[in-house]
Amino acid sequence: MTVPTKVTLTFDNGQPPIELPVLAGNLGPNVIDIRDLSKLGFLTYDPGFMSTASCNSSISFIDGEAGLLYYRGYPIEQLAQHSDFIEVSYLLIHGELPTSEEKVAFDKTMRRHTMLHDQINTVFRGFRRDAHPMAVLVGVTGALSAFYHDSIDVFDARNREISAYRLIAKVSTIAAMSYKYNMGEPFVYPQNRLGYAENFLYMMFSMPSEPYVVNPVAARALDKILVLHADHEQNASTSTVRLAGSSGANPFACIAAGMASLWGPLHGGANEAVLKMLEDIGDVSRIPEYINRAKDKSNSFRLMGFGHRIYKNMDPRAAVMRQTCHELLNELQLTEDPLFKIALELERIAAQDEYFISRKLYPNVDFYSGIVFRALGIPPSMFTAIFALARTVGWVAQWNEMLAENNHRIGRPRQHYNGAARRDYVPVAERV
Ligand code: ACO
Repeated sequence: MTVPTKVTLTFDNGQPPIELPVLAGNLGPNVIDIRDLSKLGFLTYDPGFMSTASCNSSISFIDGEAGLLYYRGYPIEQLAQHSDFIEVSYLLIHGELPTSEEKVAFDKTMRRHTMLHDQINTVFRGFRRDAHPMAVLVGVTGALSAFYHDSIDVFDARNREISAYRLIAKVSTIAAMSYKYNMGEPFVYPQNRLGYAENFLYMMFSMPSEPYVVNPVAARALDKILVLHADHEQNASTSTVRLAGSSGANPFACIAAGMASLWGPLHGGANEAVLKMLEDIGDVSRIPEYINRAKDKSNSFRLMGFGHRIYKNMDPRAAVMRQTCHELLNELQLTEDPLFKIALELERIAAQDEYFISRKLYPNVDFYSGIVFRALGIPPSMFTAIFALARTVGWVAQWNEMLAENNHRIGRPRQHYNGAARRDYVPVAERV
């Protein structure tokens, strides 16, 4: 079928019809341009943004039916196999893969921005030791806005670039420090001789009292997780960053807002829930019981790590993560890990079950990432923080794209008002 160039909206009150242009996307759904509707006194109603394209973007693309994810046109499988997080960061921010010189220069810049202002240590000390690392990450990232007063003209491209580099490099240090603080261990400074994932593991797990060598297998697996989570179109946290940033707000504060949105269990917290579910199942023999609970409509239990709002096919990130999970557990000789055995058997049984097949419920990326994190020795409380440091790249790329637009406007959704009509104030003594 050919793509229409316009649609006609008719009214049942005799009002003349209007034509609305159709914007063809390079890939994905075509978009009806409704901007003129408000001039006619109409708004559109779309809670949850199920049918709303909130912006133009050329950063990432998802085809949920086909199970595809592209970053700047490159399939995620190719990037996960051949690229690395630093190169993917360059790609998302600058739009093209770097040349070898550009990659070396970018990597060097990232390594040189990892340190935090020394006074940030004092900010940490204000938190309770048992604070959730995400609470600390949101707070300290927001606090960076009080430390970097230069280069915050968000309408200047070079200023935005510097802020982007600072954010990507420093969020990793803050995330590792929030873990150390939680554990009551001394902070470990970044080592700029190490790559991004390696440095993060070093800051998390090393102690000043003894030498620590990062396992390259672990660093590679973490790097892959970071690549897979770097961007994902206009999800809740990315849309939060865009809306916060649309007013010209400080970039560190905008990214902290995105982190706050990511923290929610409906967004970044599912992999923690997968691990808990596998622990609850406890033994392969109990899997049928849990499958039956998931299928029982009178029971609110769902199989954690299965299903996705957009992907109605295998989430391409899950396919990569599944392979990484196998490789990592083999290399670390953890294939006898009971949780991994339960996960594999659960996946096998669900793949043959009519309930899951007919509803297109496949394992999602969270199903495997929790097991990979566990094998790396990363505690569940840090899962979302690591997701946040990966997604910081996508957030800054999207924030930059928005502010670079010629016709940039503040984001300001409207509403369908269903409250009281005008009424007059009643003094308290006269109220019944
Ligand atoms: N287990 C059992 N049944 C499920 C599951 C599940 N995990 N997911 C969906 N279903 C069923 C629903 O009960 C519904 O059945 P019905 O048609 O008989 O009523 C049908 O599949 C469609 O489900 P919806 O809720 O309409 O799907 P939606 O797109 O709204 O939800 C979601 C997607 C929230 C991810 C859901 O699949 C879910 O809760 N999964 C478990 C949590 C999870 O893994 N979240 C991580 C998502 S990935 C990420 O955020 C990176």
